[in-house]
Amino acid sequence: MNNLKVRHVPVLVNEVLSGLNVNLAPLKSQEIVDTKKYIDATVGAGGHTIEIVKRGGRVLGIDADPKMIEVARENLEFALRAGMPSGLDTCPTDNPDGCYTLICGNFREIYSIAQERGFNEVEGILFDLGISSLHYGFPRGFSFKNPDAPLDMRFNDQKQGVTAAMLLSALGIHDLEKMFAEVMPVYLSRKISVSIIEERRSKKIETVGDFIEILDKAGIKRKKSKFIGSISYSTLPFLALRLAVNNELESISIALPKAFSLLKSGGRMAVISFHSGEDKQVKNYFQTLVSSEKANIIYKKLIRPAQSEIGSNPRARSAKLRVLEKI
Ligand SMILES: C[S@@+](CC[C@H](N)C(=O)[O-])C[C@H]1O[C@@H](n2cnc3c(N)ncnc32)[C@H](O)[C@@H]1O
Repeated sequence: MNNLKVRHVPVLVNEVLSGLNVNLAPLKSQEIVDTKKYIDATVGAGGHTIEIVKRGGRVLGIDADPKMIEVARENLEFALRAGMPSGLDTCPTDNPDGCYTLICGNFREIYSIAQERGFNEVEGILFDLGISSLHYGFPRGFSFKNPDAPLDMRFNDQKQGVTAAMLLSALGIHDLEKMFAEVMPVYLSRKISVSIIEERRSKKIETVGDFIEILDKAGIKRKKSKFIGSISYSTLPFLALRLAVNNELESISIALPKAFSLLKSGGRMAVISFHSGEDKQVKNYFQTLVSSEKANIIYKKLIRPAQSEIGSNPRARSAKLRVLEKI
């Protein structure tokens, strides 16, 4: 798995580490592993988790996608072998008593997943929302660059029955419009929805290429993309579909209060979002906690990646980090 051509570069690493109050210096040789517990609710390729483990934290890593759990496991094992201080050599891995443990599950079940493994009263919880760079290379229809891929977009085909192609084939015009309008202007959502209804009268929608054809017919620009914020029109219809297939916005609203209840007093929660629909939910939830005097906001100003980070990792350009501390 480590031979994958595309790497996932974690975003805002230093800001996340200091936001979560993780020791900033990696452990020195022979130093004892800390008992501080963290939950990485979106472990992905393990980028943030590796950095927390290197600094002595114990991490429960969760991901809805079984493939990403494989990637995280391999990357963590590699990082432990390659660059960990020798004091960690004996740390049992993939075990709740060790440096990290990895669980395939949806973060909407974060409370029960964490309770079962003794991760309550934790020091910090991270949500790095959305998908990883590796997802674009999976043959599951996440990217418009792979027209032959099935239009699937599920994180887990064993647990989720409805694919993106099924949604486009079954939803009525109003539900289609509502789905695209989550991330796009209403007039464009309407154009795409009408084009879908037209197309499916004569043809089965099965692949990414079929969806691209629909977008082309609706006049949605692909290459010369217009930008809304920092996301192009070409990617927005794909984003809307993916959010719907995986119920992503609903999962965030269910998970945040559960995650908050797992924090100890003084514990921190950090959330990185990549589009306004996600960020709005995070901002509103954090504000509710502040108004009811249950939490304080750590960074008063929204944290965005520096130009230097965006230069070396373009995926970081739309990232926004919010951090709170439980009172
Ligand atoms: C941006 S990536 C995380 C990258 C990770 N921080 C790293 O450094 O490698 C987001 C990950 O969250 C996972 N994910 C998205 N929604 C999820 C959910 N509801 N429950 C659990 N995992 C989810 C995706 O499968 C993806 O691997």
